Amino acid sequence: MSNYAEEINKRRTFAIISHPDAGKTTLTEKFLLYGGAINLAGSVKGKATARHAVSDWMEIEKERGISVTSSVLQFEYDGYCINILDTPGHQDFSEDTYRTLMAADSAVMVIDASKGVEAQTRKLFKVCVMRKIPIFTFINKMDRDAGDMFELLDEIERELGIATCPVNWPIGSGKNFKGVYDREEKSVIMYTDTQKGTKEGETTVIPIEEKDELSKYIGEDVKKQFLEEVELLDGASAEFDLEVVQAGELTPVFFGSALTNFGVEIFLQHFLKMTTIPLPRKADIGLIHPVENDFSAFVFKIQANMNKAHRDRIAFMRICSGKYEASMEVKHIQGGKIMRLSQPQQIMASERKILDEAYAGDIIGVFDPGIFAIGDTLCMPKEQFQYEGIPTFAPEHFARVRQMDTMKRKQFVKGITQIAQEGAIQIFQEFNTGMEEIVVGVVGVLQFEVLKYRLENEYNVEIRLENLPYEYIRWVENKDIDMVKLTGTSDMKKVKDMKGNPLLLFINQWSIGMTLDRNKGLILSEFGRD
Ligand code: G4P
Repeated sequence: MSNYAEEINKRRTFAIISHPDAGKTTLTEKFLLYGGAINLAGSVKGKATARHAVSDWMEIEKERGISVTSSVLQFEYDGYCINILDTPGHQDFSEDTYRTLMAADSAVMVIDASKGVEAQTRKLFKVCVMRKIPIFTFINKMDRDAGDMFELLDEIERELGIATCPVNWPIGSGKNFKGVYDREEKSVIMYTDTQKGTKEGETTVIPIEEKDELSKYIGEDVKKQFLEEVELLDGASAEFDLEVVQAGELTPVFFGSALTNFGVEIFLQHFLKMTTIPLPRKADIGLIHPVENDFSAFVFKIQANMNKAHRDRIAFMRICSGKYEASMEVKHIQGGKIMRLSQPQQIMASERKILDEAYAGDIIGVFDPGIFAIGDTLCMPKEQFQYEGIPTFAPEHFARVRQMDTMKRKQFVKGITQIAQEGAIQIFQEFNTGMEEIVVGVVGVLQFEVLKYRLENEYNVEIRLENLPYEYIRWVENKDIDMVKLTGTSDMKKVKDMKGNPLLLFINQWSIGMTLDRNKGLILSEFGRD
C-alpha cells in the first residue's frame, strides 16, 4: 500500500442537498465552525445568494462571486479531512447540483421539519439513488413547531422509497423543543439556545434511566409521551445496518436545529463514522482503486468566465485515485494529449489557493483553455482508461433559438456551443437543418435568461427565444435506428443532441406511451450520456 493511504482514508467527500430554504447554508456554516475554518458562522456566503431574482443574479454573475456556483469547502475535523461540495440553493441551478453529486461519495439531505419532502429534494434524491450513494438525513428547524415525526418518516419512506433509521429522536418541537434522545447511548441531550450559534451551548446529558432527573428537565407529561415514542420507535423502525446504509438503501435520520446550532455536532460525529472513505470508481477497464492506483480524475463541471476580466474557464475535477502533485504530467484521455495541469487550485467559498498536492477524494479546479468537456478522464501518461460518462439530465423546458443578426453566425455558434459544453443548457438540432435553427433545453427556466444575457454580453450576439411546448425528452437507446421510419404522435419532435444521438421531444406522457406502442422494440431513456 502506498504511503499516502492514510491521507486518502481520512477523506470524506459529500454533498449537501435540500430544497431551497431548508437550511443547507446554515448547516454548512455550522460544520465549518466545528472545523475551525471560520470564526463565526455566517460568513460562508451572503445570505441572499440562494434566492435572488434574475436581475440580482445577473449582477452577481458579472462579478461572479463563487457563492452563486458550486464550490468546495475543505476543512479538518477530528482527524478527518472533509470536502463539502456545496451547491447553489436556487432551483434553477439544479443541473449543476446534479453533476456535483457525481463527484460526491455520499449526500446529506436536509429537510425542513415542518415542510417535509419538497420538490427539489425529490429530484436530487433520484440522482443519489441512481448512483446508489449513501444518504444521511438531517431533519432541521426543530426549534420551530413541527408535526408528528413518525408521519414525517413515513413520508420520506413513501415519497422517496428509502427505509429510515432514526439515530436520535427529538423531544417536542418549537417552544417545547427539549432536546434529542441518542438511541445508542440511551441518553437525552438537552437543548440549549445558542442564540443563533453565536454563543457556545452547554451540554447536559441525562441517561434515560434517570427518570426523576428527566422529569425535572422536561416535565412529567412530556416525559411520558417521550417514553412512549421511544418504545414505539424501538418496535417499529428499521434496524441500523451500516452495509445497507452504504448501499444507499437505508438512511440514518438525525434531528436538530442548524440555526441554534443544536444537534449539528452530534450529527457530524456520527455521520463521519458512518459515511464512506473514497471508494473505487468504475472505468472501462474495471474498478480503479483510490489507494492502489496512481493519479486519476474526471471532470464533473466546467465554468466559464468566473473572472470576466480574464475570460477564464475552470474545469472542476474529482480526484478518484492516487495523489496529484504540482506540475506533474498527466494524460487527458479524450484529447489524447499529455499535459501539465495549469494552476490547480482549491476553490473555497471566497478565495482560491494554488495547490501543491491533492489526494483521491479531493476536488481541484484547473484553468481550462477550452479542451475539457464534462465527463473527461485524466490519468497518468502510461495509463489508458476512461471513467463512466456523466448522465445528462433531462431538460424540462424547451425553446427555439433564433439569431437576430445572421452576420454573426460564427460567434453565435461558438457562444452557444461553449455554454452548452459547460452544461448550463443542452442544445439540439433537427435532423436536416444546420446550426441556424437550434432547440435549447434547460432544467430550470432561469437558464434561458442566462443564455440570452451571456450571448449578448460575452459573445456580442443577440437572440430571440421562442418557447416550445415540449416537456418530456427521451433519448433513443436503440443503435442503428432509422429515425425517418420511426412513427410517433403528430406533436412529437425528432432531434439529435450535440453528439449526434437521436432523441424525441414530447408534450405529454401519453405520447411517449403511444410512440412505444407504435414502434415495437423501441427503447427510450430519460437520461442521455455525455
Ligand atoms: P438554504 O441554504 O437551504 O436555502 O437555507 P438557509 O440555510 O439559507 O436557511 C433558510 C432560512 O431558514 C434562513 O432564514 C435561516 O436562518 C433559516 N433556518 C435555517 N436553519 C434553521 C433552524 O434550524 N431553525 C430556524 N428557525 N430557522 C432556520 P431567513 O429568514 O432567510 O434568514 P434570517 O432571517 O434567519 O437571517
